[in-house]
Amino acid sequence: MAIIPARFHEKPVVCMRTLLKLLADGEFHSGEVLGQRLGVSRAAVWKQLIQLQEELGLDIHKVRGKGYRLPKAISLLDVERLQLACGELGWAVSLFDTVGSTNSEAMRLASEGAPLPHLIVAERQTAGRGRRGRTWASPFSENIYYSLALRIDGGAQHLEGLSLVVGLSVIEVLKTLDISGAGLKWPNDVLVGNRKVAGILVELMGDPAGVCQVVIGIGINVNMLANETVDQPWTSLQAETGGLVDRSALAIALSRRLAWDLQKHRKEGFSSFRQAWERNHLWEGREVSLFSGSQVIEGRALGVDDVGALRLDLDGREQTFSGGELSLRLRNDS
Ligand code: BTN
Repeated sequence: MAIIPARFHEKPVVCMRTLLKLLADGEFHSGEVLGQRLGVSRAAVWKQLIQLQEELGLDIHKVRGKGYRLPKAISLLDVERLQLACGELGWAVSLFDTVGSTNSEAMRLASEGAPLPHLIVAERQTAGRGRRGRTWASPFSENIYYSLALRIDGGAQHLEGLSLVVGLSVIEVLKTLDISGAGLKWPNDVLVGNRKVAGILVELMGDPAGVCQVVIGIGINVNMLANETVDQPWTSLQAETGGLVDRSALAIALSRRLAWDLQKHRKEGFSSFRQAWERNHLWEGREVSLFSGSQVIEGRALGVDDVGALRLDLDGREQTFSGGELSLRLRNDS
């Protein structure tokens, strides 16, 4: 259910979110105090807690004589701070408690003619999508689920290298958190060492050669410390830094950086990002295997060209590769 725009507000949602804010510190709070703060009875608090567990999949610990607490502190998205920051960038913003996929929601809004740019963020996705048909783990309040819908006119050249630029924006923001070993893997995975910390899914609607809408979907593992559903090596910002990361501050920093980079990309194209991208490419000069369906191409990663295509050295011959279905692995990496 959407938290903003305000017309979607309903009393039970406000109450549930207020209750969550009270519990966000991960400390014990008695039913009595929670009831007083919310202006409802202890029984009503109990009902809301059950709802939190059932609807959002949150685990709530109850200990006699102490009260209720979440298993660990959480960082909720702050509507006001996001609205203020996005307003300064000229973006509309919608924040959802739960959504299927922020990318799908952004595409729906764009197709309905909503004013763009429009940022969709959510506390949780029930059908988060990754590249190449994968699912994207999206538990409540743990990570960033972020989709920016944009209108792009002026032809396909404004799309060239776009998803790589977004990867660079993400990595520049992560660097401010002092995460060592963070870098990019072509085309747009963000890794710490060999473990994925963020992924990008860019989707298009309309005519790529004319006017089209683009949805830039970004998922960042922020405070997630355990998840059995992820089927690839992964890490999170909290796992790397050891502390709870403020998701609102991160989403705001990302928005500012993205707005800056998108403007530069629009004016100058991908070529002016090329060197910075290559500096951040973790597998530059490494022996790699490029998978395209059942085909495997083995070579040495040389970098990218002026439109973001991968350059491989195939036994002394350079060849470039591009396309959304390609995936790269280090050679002999199973
Ligand atoms: C990848 O496979 O690396 C891309 C993952 C992209 C996940 C993000 S989370 C926000 C947005 N909504 C989605 O359904 N997917 C993207």
